[in-house]
Amino acid sequence: VEDLPPLLTGFEAAARERLEPGPLSYYASGAGAEITLRENVEAWERLRLAPRMLVGVETRDLSTTLLGRPRPHPLVTAPMAFMRLAHPDGELGLARAAAATGTPFTLATLANTSQEQLAAGGAETSRWFQVYVFRDRGVTDALVEAAAEHGFEALVLTVDLPVVGLRETDVTLGYELPADMPIPALEGLNAGGGQTLAASLSVIDPGLRWSDLELLADGPLPVIVKGVLRPDDARHAIDHGAAAVVVSNHGGRQLDTVLPTADALPPIVDEVGGEIDVLVDGGIRRGTDVLKAVALGARGVLVGRPLLWGLTVGGEAGARRVLELLLEDLDRSLALAGSPRLSDLVESLLAN
Ligand code: GLV
Repeated sequence: VEDLPPLLTGFEAAARERLEPGPLSYYASGAGAEITLRENVEAWERLRLAPRMLVGVETRDLSTTLLGRPRPHPLVTAPMAFMRLAHPDGELGLARAAAATGTPFTLATLANTSQEQLAAGGAETSRWFQVYVFRDRGVTDALVEAAAEHGFEALVLTVDLPVVGLRETDVTLGYELPADMPIPALEGLNAGGGQTLAASLSVIDPGLRWSDLELLADGPLPVIVKGVLRPDDARHAIDHGAAAVVVSNHGGRQLDTVLPTADALPPIVDEVGGEIDVLVDGGIRRGTDVLKAVALGARGVLVGRPLLWGLTVGGEAGARRVLELLLEDLDRSLALAGSPRLSDLVESLLAN
């Protein structure tokens, strides 16, 4: 194993040096002027902590429950497409890193690895399957049905990509996915490698409605609705059968200038937090960000780009190190905040 950076920030810097312009743009960019991309990070940074002293923090406990299951900590890998653009280890590498750290792994519909390959790949961890509903519903129905058979525990329905956001550096570069790169979900659709990133996302159905969630929720797996920014939409999600929601703006990649997730989270927790699990993603870069999210009522916290940087820099080992560093930072932050049990985190730890 090569030398890995000692700090989380070092992974991003190293990955930016290593990646070709096209894949780097795909991973790093946000939509439009990248206001939301930036503000996601800033909104967590802006929150101020009011730590408690002398409460005895020699034993820390990061455990929680998510979708009714006990979990060693609140982290989950965010769904991300085309992980082989980062490293040949691809999805299997991140899934094994997730398994080594007790982290649920989310396989994207637009992964380079099939459900079968993942299930057979020796990554013994909770697996979630991210669903993009295609115009060709037969493809989606088959993937959803197969997910239960392959041991996936939940579906993550992405609701904020009816059309793809304008990622300006992607457009400028006109990068095309390698023609020989496998995208199992697109096989048979005359789509996939050899086309631009935006074109590969155009198979998604812009006509998706709440009634479609109901159909999905009638199936065997719980459905987590990802991409909710308003309390009334969180309520709709419950009314149409969702088991959980992820407060998310797709990492700032869709509609620019939407509110950052740290700001969207509290009103949604107020509306539905007593009824279903509320998760959050977007701009999570440090243990303090995770601590703040949980203090504001998030039960799970999805991590995206930092894991791609880890995968880029060191494959499975790099992604694992990023997860370990985040968990170490969360543990240290709980100690310093005087709230040694994650499940005891309360909003009063925030000063504003
Ligand atoms: C796909 O979901 C993307 O954001 O590129």
